[in-house]
Amino acid sequence: MKRIGVLTSGGDAPGMNSAVRAVVRTAIYHGLEVVGIERGYAGLINGEMRLMNLSSVGDIVHRGGTVLRTARSEAFRTPQGRAQAADNLRKMEVDALVVIGGDGSFRGATLLANEHGIKVIGIPGTIDNDIPCTDYTIGFDTCVNTVLDAINKIRDTATSHERTFIIEVMGRRAGYIALQAGLAGGAESILIPEVPFSLEDVVQKLLRGHARGKLHSIILVAEGAGSALDIGKYIEEKTGFDTRVTILGHIQRGGAPSAFDRVLAARMGAKAVELLLAGESKKMVGIVSEQIKDFDIEWALQQKKEIDLEVYKLANILSI
Ligand code: F6P
Repeated sequence: MKRIGVLTSGGDAPGMNSAVRAVVRTAIYHGLEVVGIERGYAGLINGEMRLMNLSSVGDIVHRGGTVLRTARSEAFRTPQGRAQAADNLRKMEVDALVVIGGDGSFRGATLLANEHGIKVIGIPGTIDNDIPCTDYTIGFDTCVNTVLDAINKIRDTATSHERTFIIEVMGRRAGYIALQAGLAGGAESILIPEVPFSLEDVVQKLLRGHARGKLHSIILVAEGAGSALDIGKYIEEKTGFDTRVTILGHIQRGGAPSAFDRVLAARMGAKAVELLLAGESKKMVGIVSEQIKDFDIEWALQQKKEIDLEVYKLANILSI
């Protein structure tokens, strides 16, 4: 193996740049060449590639987003698209590919390996933290801190106006962001798709709080659990409380990566290159109990990641 490729794919996540830097520098350290592929699989199909050197990844460790840019490619879902992508890799003499992204990106990488014999390693990068076999994905910690900052600010105005706020956060079909930020931010209720909930219970809790003099409240809802707008309307109707809705949106995907995400990205990026040097393919890198591990990517994609119900229970106890 002489030359490897690296791309970022799917929704961007803070820390992706730190991971790209780690892949490029570890590879060069070990005498490999690295090709950076722009705009994820879409760029791979279009042949948007450039040889990287040490300074290509200079001054990016602290930046949000991804300097390689990213995309969600429909064309890569087709066998023709993947054949074109594999062809471009061969033309550039790229023997192996490091894919930084979410589970959809990992599925794409697996198909590329199975259909065209390209060696692939996946690094989990998504704010959603919804990838099995890793306690954390790159970007999750930064995102939670961004949400927490927003909760703190909303709390100021909620207190001043004695209002109930419904804050909707991202996470696709998962509630990790809502749970972590909700516990850290002292939300009164946290609504996540993994745990069935009743809006009537949420209303009763608000009324109980109100009866003991609590005049403002924050309810965190994961986008996968329902619409904050609908929930806000329901709560206002049932309680008569002055209610506002904030949908945090893409602000959650931006910003400088936290120290945790940068270190995680550095460790995962280095591990991905080490795996390729050891002749491995079709593996994903993960962090489990602080240890960097690797897993068969196809097996990993079949696993179900469970949310920590103890943490959910604790959040409920603390917001009684
Ligand atoms: O997967 C990351 C994520 O931000 C999800 O939380 C969200 O549902 C989705 O991407 C939004 O995607 P887009 O930026 O394409 O609208």
